[in-house]
Amino acid sequence: MDREKVTQNKWWKSAVIYQIYPRSFADSNGDGIGDLRGIISKLDYLERLGIDAVWLSPVCKSPQDDNGYDISDYQDIDPMFGTLEDMEELIREAGKRHIRIIMDLVLNHSSDEHRWFQEAKKSRENPYHDYYVWRDGTEGVFPNDMRAAFGGPAWEWVPEVQQYYFHQFSVKQPDLNWENPRLRREIYDMINWWTAKGVGGFRLDVIDQIAKEPDKKITNNGPRLHEFLRELSRETFQKADLVTVGEAWGATIELAKLYSNPDNSELSMVFQFEHIGLDQVEGKEKWDLAPLPFLKLKEVFARWQSGLHGKGWNSLFWNNHDLPRIVSRWGNDGAYRVESAKMLAILLHGLQGTPYIYQGEELGMTNVQYEIEDYRDIETLHLYEERLKKGYSREEVMRSIHARSRDNARTPMQWSDGENGGFTKGTPWIKVNPNYRQINADGQLGDEDSVFSCYKNLIRLRKKYPVFVDGDFQMLLMEDENIFAYTREHEDSRLLVVCNFSGSTVNCPLEEPGASMRLLIGNYREEGPISTLRPYEARMYLSVQREI
Ligand code: GLC
Ligand code: CA
Repeated sequence: MDREKVTQNKWWKSAVIYQIYPRSFADSNGDGIGDLRGIISKLDYLERLGIDAVWLSPVCKSPQDDNGYDISDYQDIDPMFGTLEDMEELIREAGKRHIRIIMDLVLNHSSDEHRWFQEAKKSRENPYHDYYVWRDGTEGVFPNDMRAAFGGPAWEWVPEVQQYYFHQFSVKQPDLNWENPRLRREIYDMINWWTAKGVGGFRLDVIDQIAKEPDKKITNNGPRLHEFLRELSRETFQKADLVTVGEAWGATIELAKLYSNPDNSELSMVFQFEHIGLDQVEGKEKWDLAPLPFLKLKEVFARWQSGLHGKGWNSLFWNNHDLPRIVSRWGNDGAYRVESAKMLAILLHGLQGTPYIYQGEELGMTNVQYEIEDYRDIETLHLYEERLKKGYSREEVMRSIHARSRDNARTPMQWSDGENGGFTKGTPWIKVNPNYRQINADGQLGDEDSVFSCYKNLIRLRKKYPVFVDGDFQMLLMEDENIFAYTREHEDSRLLVVCNFSGSTVNCPLEEPGASMRLLIGNYREEGPISTLRPYEARMYLSVQREI
């Protein structure tokens, strides 16, 4: 079978996507906040890394209550980030470098400062009233006991209409009512407007929550979710060659097959989190820290790899703007920072799916341990107050924050060892990680052994060998407590990936790869026998039989 057929000619299956959190990427005008012109100035860097597309966290107009995930105008750029012209220039300049721009669509809720909501709260008769989710009640008596993700009740009273509105996130993020066809039409028109501007795709924020039914306390996976998604896709995405990715915390493999059905009826791929939430106390919150159950991690990856093969498409990621830095979390950000960052990269990039690199991950950037005054994230700040009130000790709360705060991912990109890591000439909106003098892009670009070079090589390999895109998956040594090893096969090529997930030297019972296996990439200079894996050692081999 020829490759085009197997991959169904979808460019995004062999693509690697790079996520930019604009306010922390590069500041062009010295106000301490990253912006679009800053991104334009770094496109050559991204081209050098070799990525195919950039997922931009929201840059639309927003009061920034949740750093842009609260949009007050979907068809304008926030002045903090630049202008619509800057955005058009970014799309154009990226295009010249074969990089597509993926926008972040926040469609579950808008900002309370959006014109729709301003109208909606004026009266029950207002044509925009029904764009949001309202329930009657009396002040002080909530419609039910649902809680918002950032703390407090999920209901807010509006005296003008004598009703509560529903918000799954902050009070400044009222939920949109997808039951209303006029709202849906406005959303489609807005998306088509962006498509006409040349964007390459969309990432759909908490998309599994749009079909909420608060009376039944249903937040995600509501009964009408896939009906809404199919209509959305038909009216927008299917008209162009776009990549679409849905953030879905509640996705199972069965649901993921719907989201990412190869018939293209919904989205290109799903962005699900089952692997990334394993190191917390079961049934509790992410702040309730527990060691990583390594065997479970392997089981989850194996299940998703086999479950979606030929039936759907997954995202591959360790990091994003909501997650701590992976090298600090499951690697070692001390003595083995470089080795473990590369091991995690090699492990992930050998799998089936579309890899996402979150800004700074390609440098092995780490978590921070700030005092509470230095945190900016709404979720972190709420958590701090809430847990202190509940009687947790300050030390305990700070331990959770150091491990899990979203600000771990949001400290400025470390470009150089100059002032503020080269991120800004002004005062950064959030402190730069003090390790920028050791960890920065300048120090890594020209170094063949850097974490950056490892990512660059992995991206190149993925494009070269179809086995990365189409190969099936077989986990090896499933019961091994330290080693993550797997093979992938496609036609006559076989990929073998062997990773030591621990900081000790371990014995590996796998056979030495034969003469037909070539080492594609590893993270130690000298190749040794596979029977002894050094701390965090990772190796990727490929065998290609000669064509007849
Ligand atoms: C998503 C975003 C997160 C945001 C939330 C509400 O989970 O990734 O950053 O706070 O949705 O929009
Ligand atoms: Ca700026």
